[in-house]
Amino acid sequence: MKIQPHVRSIVPLCLLVLSLTTCLAGQSAPMTAAEARRRAGELLKQMTVDEKIGQMNQVSGIVMPLLATEKPDKLIVAGKAGSVLWLFDVKEINRLQHLAVEKSRLHIPILFAFDVIHGYRTVFPIPLAMAASWDPGIEEAAQHLAGEDARAAGIRWTFTPMVDIARDSRWGRIVEGAGEDPYLGAAMARAQVRGFQGEMIGADSVLACVKHFAGYGAAEGGRDYDSSYVPEELMRNVYLVPFHAAEEAGAATFMSAYMDLNDVPASGNRWLLTDILRKEWGFKGFVVSDAWAVRNLQTHGYARDGEDAAYKAVSAGLDMDMASDTYTQNLAKLVASGKVSEEQLDASVLPILEAKYMLGLFDHPYVDESKVDETLDRPEGRELERKVAARSMVLLKNDNHTLPLSKSLKKIAVIGALADSTHDIEGGWTVEGLFGGPSKSHPVTMLAGLKNKLGAGVEINYVPGPMPARVYPSLFDAIEGTKPPPPPTEAEIAQSIARVKAAAASADVVIAVLGETSAMSSESASRASMNLPGIQQQMLEAVASFGKPVVLVLENGRPLDIRWAAQHVPAILEAWYPGTEGGNAVADVLFGDVNPGGKLPISWARSAGEEPLHYNHNLTHEPEDLPKFTSRYWDISSKPLYPFGYGLSYTTFRFDHLRLSRTSIKAREATEVQVDVTNTGGVQGDAVAQLYIHQRWGSASRPVRQLEGFQRVAVKPGETRTLKFPLGKDELQFWSPQTKVWAVEPSTFDVWAGEDSTASLHTELNVTE
Ligand code: NOJ
Repeated sequence: MKIQPHVRSIVPLCLLVLSLTTCLAGQSAPMTAAEARRRAGELLKQMTVDEKIGQMNQVSGIVMPLLATEKPDKLIVAGKAGSVLWLFDVKEINRLQHLAVEKSRLHIPILFAFDVIHGYRTVFPIPLAMAASWDPGIEEAAQHLAGEDARAAGIRWTFTPMVDIARDSRWGRIVEGAGEDPYLGAAMARAQVRGFQGEMIGADSVLACVKHFAGYGAAEGGRDYDSSYVPEELMRNVYLVPFHAAEEAGAATFMSAYMDLNDVPASGNRWLLTDILRKEWGFKGFVVSDAWAVRNLQTHGYARDGEDAAYKAVSAGLDMDMASDTYTQNLAKLVASGKVSEEQLDASVLPILEAKYMLGLFDHPYVDESKVDETLDRPEGRELERKVAARSMVLLKNDNHTLPLSKSLKKIAVIGALADSTHDIEGGWTVEGLFGGPSKSHPVTMLAGLKNKLGAGVEINYVPGPMPARVYPSLFDAIEGTKPPPPPTEAEIAQSIARVKAAAASADVVIAVLGETSAMSSESASRASMNLPGIQQQMLEAVASFGKPVVLVLENGRPLDIRWAAQHVPAILEAWYPGTEGGNAVADVLFGDVNPGGKLPISWARSAGEEPLHYNHNLTHEPEDLPKFTSRYWDISSKPLYPFGYGLSYTTFRFDHLRLSRTSIKAREATEVQVDVTNTGGVQGDAVAQLYIHQRWGSASRPVRQLEGFQRVAVKPGETRTLKFPLGKDELQFWSPQTKVWAVEPSTFDVWAGEDSTASLHTELNVTE
């Protein structure tokens, strides 16, 4: 596995957005890193120990039970807060910034931070969906726009990208990352860093924060926050790959994870934060803890008390304490006793100050409040969002050309409470969804999108049924003190089923919008089952019994157990949580104005019992495709329902003529792979050509397949395009647990190219000493 320098895709839209930035910004040339370092160094010399510790302290901007009991005014004036998070009120941001700049001794501006994960006011599809686009260029454009919006609202640091590899769909936070694959994950990580920060950090940038460093996605049993046990070879070959890619792309900051990694909590883990990140990779930015993670080193049973927690975190290489006050309460004592040196503090504070200089915060600390809505409501944002959303959708099934639907249908039944839920269509981690933020995004639901597309001439009979609900409250329920609604009564269920049946009986086609509410996905949202929650399965079975065409549109953030639907429903579209324009984008795809081209960034398990499931597993002594051992389980196939990389189109593609420029190379050399892709159907469509390799023997067993290249290309009917992929050191090397180095080993490599991870078009490459 390699870390490949990112080649920016030339997406016209992306360029449009980029040029827009320049116009909007109108700022002076960015400060060089050397100049920022010089100024930061000068400032550092004037700072007291307490002021240094203050820069290492991030405080909550909102007062809320469990978060903070008072506003941070006093801390800011005393120079005891370097950063403020969870604030989305621009007036309040300016007010606090005035305090920092005008009332604190050294006038150091505050760095305001927020989770702008997939959009600010215009909300893009969830990151897992954007990964399903297999189009880093469009994700870069989306995050660039999100960054512009955030900056207009005073946020200069986002806790994005989340690049945790997730091989277990029970884990709720699979929704925030790019799925299971390190190569795809690395491409999406680079794209996001560039989207937020640009070529170099300057007045137009929002700092990226790569999280959660590292191994969080390997939580045992998919249970959020649970310990991860990941051997070093798996860390290096899989889990760390997107982190390293983001670091190489210039990410300014990292966030340490919550959980234990191999028994050492990540927020006090010197191997991660110093040995790998700084010494091996040469990271020059700063690391923030996850919220309360420094204090929680005590609850992990790792630190004796607050002082020990501060000591262990700072010695491990953690620069900023998010919201736990542990540094402010303990670091001064540790410096006084000589356990922590002032040089250690300086090493943490310097990159924080440098970042503030590079962002231009010392020169332009305030936000123009009169421009906020104007920027955030730009129509370009919604146009881009609609494109990204449609580009992210994955057509899972389409028997008998059920889709696209005809616009001359007369009567449609739409079922499912998610179909008209503005609260859910944007998914979790949205500015407006967090802590009851303002509601100005006005998302288009799927029902509204269908109405927009079809106009008044088509009768739409909508039967929502009960909204599925969590059994245990979500994180935000807990913070806000709300409880999930009780499950529907027997009578309510019977009534809903009768209604959906009546709607289906008289419709030309049924569109069932089913899935999970946004609170069922993301942090603190892991599941033991992957069934359609609530009575959605019953509703689906009820409508499917009429012989009418049924289209299942999924709104969710993880694969669900849809084995019944995969057998009985003719068309299934994975729409994810598609964002602000999601409803319009779904209608674009359902009615053929957009030909779907997204591909799964995860293996779609049949049931939760198959998890963790990933395509890039090793071979065993009895490989699965041998006739005598066809199955790993006796009750279920061990293969996914839909494989990694899979997705249909309204057209078909043929891949052929897989060839190598050289079929034998030395370990330091490279070859070029070429493959032809032909559109064999009747409409233009996007093919995602995927390149997989397998090393047959060597110093360690290697995955049965691993992705080492992909390209999403538009192909006209009858057209053939020849695609090229490099295959050399970056693609062929791996970190061996025996030799403990990255190396390309002499071996024979299988090479496949095709439409998904089961591609059969094959050739071989020989690598010699
Ligand atoms: C906790 C989450 O784990 C992290 O992803 C997020 O960025 C922080 N809270 C701040 O909101």
